[in-house]
Amino acid sequence: MADLNLDKTKCEEIRGLLLQLLGSVFALYLKTLGIHWNVKGSDFLGIHRWTDEQYESLQDDVDAVGERIVQLGGHAPATFEEMSHLSQVQLVREFRDANAMLRALAEDHALLVRLARKISQLAAATSDSGTTSLMDSFIQSHEKLIWMLNKSVE
Ligand SMILES: [Fe+2]
Repeated sequence: MADLNLDKTKCEEIRGLLLQLLGSVFALYLKTLGIHWNVKGSDFLGIHRWTDEQYESLQDDVDAVGERIVQLGGHAPATFEEMSHLSQVQLVREFRDANAMLRALAEDHALLVRLARKISQLAAATSDSGTTSLMDSFIQSHEKLIWMLNKSVE
């Protein structure tokens, strides 16, 4: 099998960070679903519909990051144990008021963006443009969402 002609050690480092991103995106997908199901109050319908779009988009991100890990020669985990071990996103059992949940989502997306920037920089320094461009579009869409989440709770 032809490989991607990338430095093996750097590739392993990139994969390590992508695994953290995978776990974190997966956790945020679950958290967003939880808000979609459990949100209460006068904003219910708007937030219910908006989080529907958000978790679908996070599902696409999970897929894209998992696929990139495999393209870089790694194994993409698919168990709750591994995902939860890799994630940096704090999941919740209790869902507070709608605004608090939207603020929490904005913070979680900011965490994903910080991680994606780190990956993008490392990938750029390794000439791994496939990962760089994946991370750059990831950053763009999550930054847009952070802006929208922040504006909706101002
Ligand atoms: Fe639904």
